[in-house]
Amino acid sequence: MKAPSLLICILLPFLITCSSKKQIGSMDFEEVVESPNKKLSLTLEVENGEPLYHLNYDDKALIAPSKLGVIFENVNLSEDLTLDYIETSGFDETWTQPWGEQKDIRNHYSEMKLYLTKNVSGENMNVTFRVFDDGLGFRYEWPEQEGLQDFVITNEITEFNMVDDHTGWWIGAYQLNRYEHLFNETRLSEIDTVHTPFTMRTDDGVHLSIHEAALTDFASMTLANNGNNSLEADLVPWKSGDKVRGSAPHKSPWRTISIGETAGELMTNYLVLNLNEPSKIEDTSWIKPAKYTGIWWDMHLGTKTWGSGDMHGATTEYTKELMDFTARNDFYGVLVEGWNTGWDGDWAANSDIFSFTGSYPDFDIEEVTRYGDSLGVKLIGHHETSTGISNYEAQVDDAFSQYNEVGVEVVKTGYVGDFVEGGEWHHGQFMVRHYRDIVIKAADAQIMLNVHEPIKDTGIRRTWPNMMTREGARGQEYNAWSVDGGNPPDYTTIVPFTRGLVSPFDYTPGVFNLLLSDKTDNPNNNRVMHTLAKELALYVVIYSPLHMVSDLPKNLEANPTALEWIKVVPVDWETTMVPEAEIGDHAVVVRKDRNSGDWYLGGITDEEARSFEIDLNFLESGKTYEAHIWADGEDADWETNPYPLERTTQVVTADDALELNLAAGGGVAVRFVEMD
Ligand code: NOJ
Repeated sequence: MKAPSLLICILLPFLITCSSKKQIGSMDFEEVVESPNKKLSLTLEVENGEPLYHLNYDDKALIAPSKLGVIFENVNLSEDLTLDYIETSGFDETWTQPWGEQKDIRNHYSEMKLYLTKNVSGENMNVTFRVFDDGLGFRYEWPEQEGLQDFVITNEITEFNMVDDHTGWWIGAYQLNRYEHLFNETRLSEIDTVHTPFTMRTDDGVHLSIHEAALTDFASMTLANNGNNSLEADLVPWKSGDKVRGSAPHKSPWRTISIGETAGELMTNYLVLNLNEPSKIEDTSWIKPAKYTGIWWDMHLGTKTWGSGDMHGATTEYTKELMDFTARNDFYGVLVEGWNTGWDGDWAANSDIFSFTGSYPDFDIEEVTRYGDSLGVKLIGHHETSTGISNYEAQVDDAFSQYNEVGVEVVKTGYVGDFVEGGEWHHGQFMVRHYRDIVIKAADAQIMLNVHEPIKDTGIRRTWPNMMTREGARGQEYNAWSVDGGNPPDYTTIVPFTRGLVSPFDYTPGVFNLLLSDKTDNPNNNRVMHTLAKELALYVVIYSPLHMVSDLPKNLEANPTALEWIKVVPVDWETTMVPEAEIGDHAVVVRKDRNSGDWYLGGITDEEARSFEIDLNFLESGKTYEAHIWADGEDADWETNPYPLERTTQVVTADDALELNLAAGGGVAVRFVEMD
């Protein structure tokens, strides 16, 4: 007998939510859930005990019927299931990011939750689906129950069945060097197992990306190619082969499909953030975006060393020099790597000997922080673990306390290494838990984090806004030493639409000496493979609340025109728009400063020269702006002549269009300053 459905509604300012629960009690079921504007429609089915979903976008199939479920050591929760109840609800709220690429974000969706029970043995699993106008999220939940105490998941069988052989941009999973690879562009049929976000474009031009949200106590999800355009969740295992360990109640991360009509719409899709929990940090006033310098590029060029000796970079004297430069140019702080003991020899293998509090004799942490205070410049801390997790966990409380005592507010962490603690994969549940624990410890100590060799970003910065930025892709440093010579010109036109989709990326722009003439030994002809104007544009195109100013002070100060841009470009935005973009070819991004009426534009191209006419209708109508333009100068070309930079100004309004001419491998950076 079916019980009547029960409808409950809550109406609060900025929040509307209603929910109704209906009894089903069957192994067969079908119902459609539409997104608020009805552009997306999700069909949920249970077919003879097997749950399935499929998705239409604009009345066309986008995801074909795809399986759902998880297999535990003792029970298969993908088949032989009875649907007991469904619960439907809606939600509409606008929330504010304490910092970010977009200040206010609307979280608006239709929800359906399936309550499933395994026939005979009786285990319970709920699956919650949220259908947004721009995508879908769903997650599994195992309520508290006898049968799933101390469980092991051996396989997740979630499918993402594509309706066609789309074009995709991807990096392979289960490779050495974690996420630090160039992206491949191929048809779906040519991939093997890939990391997420996995971005695709249909032949009709719809852009979509499969990823996950709120990864805090699960294995990272990669995607395996099952043939026939079918992708299946492939969880990175523990070294024992287990995929996930836990105890009910437990939830999986959200599986997400973000959708955009254009590449630009995909970049400004905030579904992954919406699926994370609101901030657990009540007072976020201590969390501040900033630009920073560092004793860092020197080591990547080989002009200084992390380890002790004549070439040691992290000395009191050199830190003070960097602090002077940082104060002169009004940047926030100086990252110092190599001040703590443990770097001598092959530091990547020194995971057990790093001290996180003891310094080399030529570095005095009290003295440099006192000096920094006198100038209004902060020391930025550094913890390279080389994946020595137990060594780090044993010291991290003391290390954060020491940083608290000397006024360090930002710490960069590092996890160089492919396997952890005798064979755990870098992206397995072991490391996911470690990262989460460190983010929480840092929040307790009021420390902002910049994580290198991270777990991929799944939007947990919404919950822990001290998780500022991370690496998780090939950064600028590859230009200094990678055996292939550096990141090719198209790389930065792909990154914002793949790794960058869930955003902050500590790419570390700001190298002016593009041909790296400071490097005494350069067997692979390493260099930065684009023009100076493009290097400047990266401050807008690649989003990070902590952006580095990477080059050596002498190179930066030798070019005051270029440095002027880095001094003025903000790192915290009210809104972001993408007027022009094709993944792998070019991107033009505009962002409005959160703290003034000014707008900023960054445009970049691959190895092809391009021109664009950009409508300035994003500017406030009725106002006049002075556009300060840093463009590729005469005959600029990434390969033969990367340095010419032309600085001009123009008076513009929202009714104008701005012509942008980008050299091969070039770029453009524009600041629109409100005039009275
Ligand atoms: C790799 C990081 O990406 C880099 O920024 C850092 O300098 C080295 N590890 C040393 O920690």
